[in-house]
Amino acid sequence: MYIVIRCVKKIDKKRSFDVHFDNYKNTFLLPIKIPPIEPKGQFFIWENTRNGINGVLSHIFSKLFYQNFITRFLVRNNILKIFKRINCDIGDIIHFNGFNSLHYNENVSSERRSILIHSNRGIKNSSIINLSEKLSQIF
Ligand SMILES: [Fe+2]
Repeated sequence: MYIVIRCVKKIDKKRSFDVHFDNYKNTFLLPIKIPPIEPKGQFFIWENTRNGINGVLSHIFSKLFYQNFITRFLVRNNILKIFKRINCDIGDIIHFNGFNSLHYNENVSSERRSILIHSNRGIKNSSIINLSEKLSQIF
């Protein structure tokens, strides 16, 4: 299990529209602070973007294919309309498969805080995945 407290402020522009897959198949998202006015940093998901990923290479190649500046540009400019907006308030819990489903948060007008609980790694016992997770904890 991997638990993250995600805090994003208006100046954290690199964190918004950061389209990505998680390393885990189960994620629970619990918002604990939401901006009172739009944009509220709401969650967007393209469910089951990829399926059948069971090896490190296919995982890495699909991440390179989807997680890049082109996808971010298309999302940021509302061109890629396949993502579904999930409205959630404080007290709600969202469960999703972040390993198979591409997802991101929009920008925020003020601070947003969430708790993310991840479990069930999609790729087990991979030193590359372990290293990327350690790096993401630092940066
Ligand atoms: Fe994620």
